[in-house]
Amino acid sequence: MNYLRGISGKIKFGEPLKGHTTFRIGGKAKVWFEPESVEDLTNMVRAAGKQKLPLFVIGSGSNVLIADKEINGVFIKLSSAYFKKMSIKSATIYCGAGATLAELINTAYFHGLSGLEFLSGIPGTLGGAVFMNAGISAKISAEGGSASGGKNGKTKTKSIGDFVKNVTVMDYKGNVKKINSDKIIFTYRKSNLERCIILSAHLKLLKKDKKKIKKNMLEYIDKRRKAQDYAASSAGCFFKNPSNELSAGRLIDLCGLKGRSVGGAAVSRKHANFIVNKGGAKAGDVLSLMSLIRKRVKNKFGLTLNPEVKIWQ
Ligand code: EPU
Repeated sequence: MNYLRGISGKIKFGEPLKGHTTFRIGGKAKVWFEPESVEDLTNMVRAAGKQKLPLFVIGSGSNVLIADKEINGVFIKLSSAYFKKMSIKSATIYCGAGATLAELINTAYFHGLSGLEFLSGIPGTLGGAVFMNAGISAKISAEGGSASGGKNGKTKTKSIGDFVKNVTVMDYKGNVKKINSDKIIFTYRKSNLERCIILSAHLKLLKKDKKKIKKNMLEYIDKRRKAQDYAASSAGCFFKNPSNELSAGRLIDLCGLKGRSVGGAAVSRKHANFIVNKGGAKAGDVLSLMSLIRKRVKNKFGLTLNPEVKIWQ
């Protein structure tokens, strides 16, 4: 590929994508790229722009469903040491976009910094988490048979955006800029950091006793393990919750869809908003199951579920 001549970093052609996603589904990447530096990334972004090749920033592949074909584009993974750097100044932590949430939370814990414990047990990178404004947003009580989980449910929302001081991004022309939090719009599972590659972020945390931080982390991990299906391959919660009061998982469950399958894809029996790959699932199986779920929820509750998972096809 002539247009990539002179670009440093790890480049592969036709890289199989299955193994790069937590769903274990996906075809091949026309170009797979792991830059060692910002300069590598700038060069690739500009070359891809000239070739009109779309960019796919894959993070840890934990929130994507990729079609079973060759995807015409450049897949970018910020896996090198440069993009995983972290440093701490007072209660602010700087973190490269390629660091995993687990690495970030553990580093914060090590330095007695609290705030991000609620993300414990969520797979993903800092970049992906900021881009998607990862967080928790749920009706806590499971009492009763109503779609909202009963009258006594308490809504608790918390997202990574609440902690962001600024982010450094590269736009699709290869220019790097810092964006302060007052210019970033974080909404439910969304940010306005579209059409750019998040490189790093500064997060404002709070000093706290390490034992309390650890306890908090373990509680979140325990809660997730009990309620969610991390034993099977999946992309976590598949649909966004229609509102703070309504859990997509509960709605799907109330439609009696737990265990329903299409090909190798099935609605988890543990948490109905998890579509799991029972083995050998095709992207098409997941998409068919997705349509079936949306139809059933629409018919029963008049609500349209929208995927939280990014679908690349
Ligand atoms: N519920 C059911 N049946 C199910 C699943 C859930 O009745 O099959 C009930 C639960 O018993 C509970 C209520 O629905 O009363 C809410 O369930 P849960 O606490 O699991 O929360 P959620 O709304 O389903 C959200 C996030 C999760 C996050 C949890 C943390 C979304 C789409 N999901 O789930 O995020 O971990 O809160 O409480 O916002 C993700 O983003 O991938 C993800 C898993």
